[in-house]
Amino acid sequence: MRDILILAWSAQFFTISLAQLWPKEIKKCHYGDTECLVNTANAIIRKFPRGIPAIGLKPIDVVDIKDSKYWNDEKIGAFWLIFDLYQQVNYGFENTTITNIKGFDKNPTLSYMEIHGHIPNVIHKGRYMSQGRTWLVEMNSTGEYQSDFQSFNFTLKMKVFMEYRNHKRYLKMYELVPRVALNRWIFWLDNFFPDNSDLTWAINHVFNSNWIEFWNELEPVNLKIFAGIFRDLIADIFNNIAYDDMFLPDETETEVNV
Ligand SMILES: *[C@@H]1O[C@H](CO)[C@@H](O)[C@H](O)[C@H]1NC(C)=O
Ligand SMILES: *[C@@H]1O[C@H](CO)[C@@H](O)[C@H](O)[C@H]1NC(C)=O
Ligand SMILES: *[C@@H]1O[C@H](CO)[C@@H](O)[C@H](O)[C@H]1NC(C)=O
Repeated sequence: MRDILILAWSAQFFTISLAQLWPKEIKKCHYGDTECLVNTANAIIRKFPRGIPAIGLKPIDVVDIKDSKYWNDEKIGAFWLIFDLYQQVNYGFENTTITNIKGFDKNPTLSYMEIHGHIPNVIHKGRYMSQGRTWLVEMNSTGEYQSDFQSFNFTLKMKVFMEYRNHKRYLKMYELVPRVALNRWIFWLDNFFPDNSDLTWAINHVFNSNWIEFWNELEPVNLKIFAGIFRDLIADIFNNIAYDDMFLPDETETEVNV
């Protein structure tokens, strides 16, 4: 009797703690079931834009990112430019639609794991600091900036290895390669020429009508920024939830064990 009570108690605790870890309304999938995984990923994004701390999912409606250097020339010669972004925040990840998921198989270490998605607008806000020199003119400005990556499609290719904790399999990511396509990049610097708002307007206009050239030049930096954001979001989930707990039990394995 005592044993049964203890068993019942512990079973109850066990299910409670599992239920807390994995939100009830989120459907689990079989390994490699792309359609189910895409639906589940989108359900999580729609229902939990502010994250699920228990499974390590950070808020995605407002994403802080590290300071970044767009240009960082040596301060020598007739032309150099230093351009830093800081106090940066990203908005819009809550509107992500996942379009494809590959490689989330029973053994995900064998191939790349891939996540494909679409975000209508990735809004990026923060402050910039710019110093530079063109011929004899020195320039120094700081202010706020805003940028909007419109119709932002991304593909993340990840490589993972397996780590065992308490006889459970956890994934560790050691490589994440993002690829991005977008329809337009809008960028606005306030106060770039503090004493000349016409010139500020003009420089923003030049930038926005030539955004493709700027995108091409800055793509490596931008991809590094995006890779950091995605890596932070995904690595925390992998670290908090055992890989097998994300999926329905594998039927073939259950049969063998019975
Ligand atoms: C996300 O989508 C909602 C609903 O369409 C929209 O109101 C909101 O502005 C979007 N957020 C961003 C940052 O684009
Ligand atoms: C630009 O700002 C930096 C740091 O605030 C300062 O050291 C430098 O003297 C300034 N240069 C000019 C030309 O105003
Ligand atoms: C992004 O993907 C959507 C469909 O998912 C497609 O309609 C759109 O043309 C793509 N945009 C770019 C810039 O590749």
